[in-house]
Amino acid sequence: MPPIRHLRQASDSLTHSYSAWRSRPIVARCTVLKRRPDSASGASSFANRMSGPAAFRKATTAFGAISSPMTETLSPPLPVFHEQDCDLSLIRARRVAVIGYGSQGRTHALNLRDSGVTDIVVGLRADSGTRALAQEDGFPVETAAGATRGADVVAVMVSDEAHRDLWREEIAPNVRPGAAVIFAHGLSVRFGLVTPGPEIDVILASPKGIGPRIRELYEAGEGVFCLLGVHQDATGAARALGLSYAAALGCGRKGILETTFAAECESDLFGEQVVLCGGTVELVDAAFMKLVEAGYPAEVAWFECFYELKLVTDLLHRPHLQYGRIRCLSDRAAGDRRALAGGHGRGAGRGSFGRVR
Ligand SMILES: NC(=O)c1ccc[n+]([C@@H]2O[C@H](COP(=O)([O-])OP(=O)(O)OC[C@H]3O[C@@H](n4cnc5c(N)ncnc54)[C@H](OP(=O)(O)O)[C@@H]3O)[C@@H](O)[C@H]2O)c1
Repeated sequence: MPPIRHLRQASDSLTHSYSAWRSRPIVARCTVLKRRPDSASGASSFANRMSGPAAFRKATTAFGAISSPMTETLSPPLPVFHEQDCDLSLIRARRVAVIGYGSQGRTHALNLRDSGVTDIVVGLRADSGTRALAQEDGFPVETAAGATRGADVVAVMVSDEAHRDLWREEIAPNVRPGAAVIFAHGLSVRFGLVTPGPEIDVILASPKGIGPRIRELYEAGEGVFCLLGVHQDATGAARALGLSYAAALGCGRKGILETTFAAECESDLFGEQVVLCGGTVELVDAAFMKLVEAGYPAEVAWFECFYELKLVTDLLHRPHLQYGRIRCLSDRAAGDRRALAGGHGRGAGRGSFGRVR
């Protein structure tokens, strides 16, 4: 029998058992499959009925899904703020310099303006490729030094590798005492690439999304989560101003969570390297290679290992317990995943085919 037929049969049988399982009451779904002691199935389902990380944390703890040493060391829930907790008049009354007009800079400038901030200037290099776009969008454009001079809030929206020199040469000499500097990522403060003097507020407003998507959601009346942190509160009003700025980005519609520069930066680097850019790509590569080396057509392998990943991640983000369902099915395949994770040499991952061939 050709392997693909076996795969189809396996897939039919999986679909059949999945449909049967779905028809059971929600509470029974996650217990019908044998759960490993550390399984997060129940917790994930529960969490997906609610929204947001605080709910997820509560659910995972309540279900005992996280192993006990981890549960014991969990930090208290982060404070979460919404539009009604933020005073937009604070940022509206400020002159805001947005330095950089890329993914984040453009979105911040546009969302701030649409939230009623009227005095915005964009800071860019004289030969910047994004200068024309900023002007087309209707913003006055100066150099970073010029935009910083006289600004009440300086939003540093240039790529992180440029922060050290930009700070030293253009922002630090021109930022006025009592002004606030806002970063969208904690890296340069966490690792000392910038060293703000004690006379300025230093705030983190890190929206959890790429710039164009944040803008798209803002225009649709929605928002993304935002991590807020205060590294330095020279004026005593840094937190309120940070909340106001984050709300003007549209994040108050979703949730602004108060944390630290270090937590945002370190977890961001970890997540990026382990899940978003590291783990996911490695997994797709390994699974694709496994199928191809086993003789399956590359096109078919591409569908299964790459193309359909998008469908699953979309499901993961949908309400109605989709994450929990997938997590339950995923528990079944844990052994196969472990085998695959062992490498993509010919010998590794045999167990995966054992089920379908
Ligand atoms: N991208 C995201 O999804 C995302 C998400 C959360 C947080 N962040 C954070 O947001 C910040 C900005 O990242 P980004 O992705 O928006 O950057 P980006 O898309 O690469 O845009 C960088 C912008 O900064 C300008 N620029 C670079 N060097 C400059 C300098 N020395 N002086 C003035 N302008 C300069 C660039 O203009 P020219 O090169 O044309 O001169 C461009 O307009 C970073 O701290 C990043 O970690 C990004």
